[in-house]
Amino acid sequence: MLEKKARRWLKITHIVFIASLVGGLLSIFMIIRLPGFAQRELFVINYSMYILFNGVVTFSFYGVICTGLIYSVFTHWALSKHWWIMAKWVRTLSVFALVWIWPGPAINGMTALSDAGLAPRSDQFLYHDYAGNIGPAILVVMVIFITLITITIFKPWGQRTQAYALGRGTILILTGSVVVVSIAFGIRGDYDLESDRNLEISSPDLTRIPDGVYRGSAGYAEFGYVVKAKVNKHHIENIEVR
Ligand code: HEM
Repeated sequence: MLEKKARRWLKITHIVFIASLVGGLLSIFMIIRLPGFAQRELFVINYSMYILFNGVVTFSFYGVICTGLIYSVFTHWALSKHWWIMAKWVRTLSVFALVWIWPGPAINGMTALSDAGLAPRSDQFLYHDYAGNIGPAILVVMVIFITLITITIFKPWGQRTQAYALGRGTILILTGSVVVVSIAFGIRGDYDLESDRNLEISSPDLTRIPDGVYRGSAGYAEFGYVVKAKVNKHHIENIEVR
């Protein structure tokens, strides 16, 4: 078990990660409201949100989860002894999943679209869809965070009457592997996204390409894409993506 002094340092670290997580999300919330940018500036604005999200927010989340794990394994609070700790875990992991599937893809999508010069065109419904999603998602997360802070201060619902107590080793193996696997997935996703964004696309010399239909395929995670390009008189006449 951690001594008093170590627990104080743990609390400082926990709070620093929370502050940086909340700060990152609120910065994105303010940036998304900036109006009227032309294409190049828009990319810089979106890229700033991208860096804030994939750098600050994601890694602060890992920090909060890791410090939460240390609290659950190496302090008297434990993982399943108190209802408020269990409630914190459920909310923290739900909010983590929510951030991953809601504002995360929207920010990545907006950055990719503005990078490709497809925004801020008014016919780019996908872009405007993404942009409209980020504010509400961050507001939902903030409300959950306020409930989390309230739970921490009031520590409600008392202690659980446990039929059996989980040993420290079991808790560490169970929760530790979940944390390690999710962090590994997160880092891998980030890495994949970066390498896809920096993919070099060469321009073929169409004057040397005979007419015909050319097929290519690529895979990303569990998705597979097949592309068919039709070349006619040295021009690409049609591209089909499936
Ligand atoms: C991963 C799940 C989490 C666990 C297991 C956890 C657990 C804990 C514990 C045991 C403390 C020390 C309480 C005390 O000694 O009085 C603490 C402090 C704190 N936690 Fe968490 N936490 C988690 C996630 C979060 C999240 C996501 C937030 C914020 C949105 C948060 C906000 C705070 C705050 C503000 C404190 C300091 C409270 C004080 O000093 O009274 N925690 N946490």
